[in-house]
Amino acid sequence: MAAVDFHDGVNKGVAPVTYGAGSRPPRGDYAKARADYTCEQAWAQYTPADHDTYRRLYTRQLQQLPGLACDEFIAAVQQLGTPDRIPRFDEVSERLMKATGWQIVGVPGLIPEEAFFALLAARKFPVTDWIRTPDEFDYVVEPDVFHDLFGHVPLLFNPVFADYMQAYGAGGLKASRLDAAELLARLYWYTVEFGLIATPQGLRAYGAGILSSAGELRHSVTAAAAERVAFDLKRLMRTRYKIDTYQATYFVIDSFDQLFEATAPDFTPLYREVRERIAQHGEIDAGQVLPGERRFSAGPLPPAPRG
Ligand code: PHE
Ligand code: CO
Repeated sequence: MAAVDFHDGVNKGVAPVTYGAGSRPPRGDYAKARADYTCEQAWAQYTPADHDTYRRLYTRQLQQLPGLACDEFIAAVQQLGTPDRIPRFDEVSERLMKATGWQIVGVPGLIPEEAFFALLAARKFPVTDWIRTPDEFDYVVEPDVFHDLFGHVPLLFNPVFADYMQAYGAGGLKASRLDAAELLARLYWYTVEFGLIATPQGLRAYGAGILSSAGELRHSVTAAAAERVAFDLKRLMRTRYKIDTYQATYFVIDSFDQLFEATAPDFTPLYREVRERIAQHGEIDAGQVLPGERRFSAGPLPPAPRG
């Protein structure tokens, strides 16, 4: 899920997380949304072709997970239920509520960032209700139900990650007041969407943007061309990101505990420090590595999936 700013009904694409949204209006039907931007999942309105798209996306992605996705994700992905049809949000919510106290709620698509933060702070994860068309099978500009569900929901079954997401939402509401939402958006981007984790077995993906992407999953872990640097909050907040290509830089955490603890302190002074640092030394480009910075080398290519 991502958030985006609306002004006069026009999607300006300036929010914490966008998928290359430009001046094009978002696709969903916002007339059916409630004041908090949530909506019913009109499950009966999915067509057989919609369910088939979901099944094909799920199957393609599932067979790529071994050796590339983190264990926590692989263990929880089956909680989404059968791959044969788009899950009913209520059924997934019931399981998720028992595991970590989170729910998923339907939304028509990208929503304003304040609404997005407020839902996360209330342990409600917004999931886009529509699915991409068959000609968008490999790439869709806005997040759809496959990205939001398959990419994001499995890790919400992990108690530490679940708490991190709630803290992020509360932190987002605060960042809006401090005019720091853009810096905080980089944290979401480089962790929740494109994060890597170092495990005893090697680098693995935990970010939803990676895990829901056919090509980037393999690229992020194994491509020699990508940079992988240790998670460092101030460094990360100075780093630009790519919205229309694979990431040039990935940040690597050691554990979800590390991520939670590193982001627990009050960010008010941190935003000030990062702004000063940017004023003096500039931003860091995607793909740029700083002198002396430790880089993680690419992992080996797992055996090609069969089937
Ligand atoms: N600790 C952050 C703050 O005070 C909130 C936060 C937590 C932000 C986790 C992001 C992730 O602003
Ligand atoms: Co997302």
